[in-house]
Amino acid sequence: MADPTWKQYFENVGNKPNMLVEKALARVKLKRNALDLGSGNGRDSIYLNSQGFELVVAVDSSPDATMWLPPGIARKDKTIEDEVLGNVQVNFVGYYDLVISMNSLFFLTKRTAVEVISQMHKALTRGGVMAFNVLGYGDQWVADGKDVSAFDDHEIAAIEETYHAVYSSKVTEAGTTADGKPKIWQTYSLICIKQ
Ligand SMILES: C[S@@+](CC[C@H](N)C(=O)[O-])C[C@H]1O[C@@H](n2cnc3c(N)ncnc32)[C@H](O)[C@@H]1O
Repeated sequence: MADPTWKQYFENVGNKPNMLVEKALARVKLKRNALDLGSGNGRDSIYLNSQGFELVVAVDSSPDATMWLPPGIARKDKTIEDEVLGNVQVNFVGYYDLVISMNSLFFLTKRTAVEVISQMHKALTRGGVMAFNVLGYGDQWVADGKDVSAFDDHEIAAIEETYHAVYSSKVTEAGTTADGKPKIWQTYSLICIKQ
């Protein structure tokens, strides 16, 4: 039986893909394998599947999240950490044309998020694209002391340089959480292409 909060979440975020994912997809040359870390209800996995990827792998630690995924998407009910940290398999390193992690890395510790970003990059084919977002220190959850990680401008600049960012934005705006509560968001969104 699904957790009803996921039903609510599904209804709130809907099926529209993240705009950053649409932007990243425009940079992808070959649509073979895609990896979605912290896939939630799978709105981005479903979108990527519809855009012609041969394989879309959706990873989320909540089985109630991935149960919403339709057939045709490879579900992995596991943590992002278990999927990527230390993963050196042939179907991981240099395997993915697109790796995304939307609205999920901030639930990891900062150290883990940094390691995951490094692994996301390792997982890319040459010319492959990764897209993710993280919180800034101006985010309300960070200011309120919630257990989320945050980055500053200098740290983001270092990530941009290390992973060859082709798009980077910092946005501070009033919005809502996935469960519909008002919140001030401050997010950095990045798209990087593997050289
Ligand atoms: C805010 S939702 C974002 C979902 C989706 N990417 C989106 O943008 O709609 C965050 C997701 O990350 C998942 N998550 C959080 N920490 C995780 C972890 N350590 N490993 C795997 N999934 C995690 C949650 O279960 C949840 O589905």
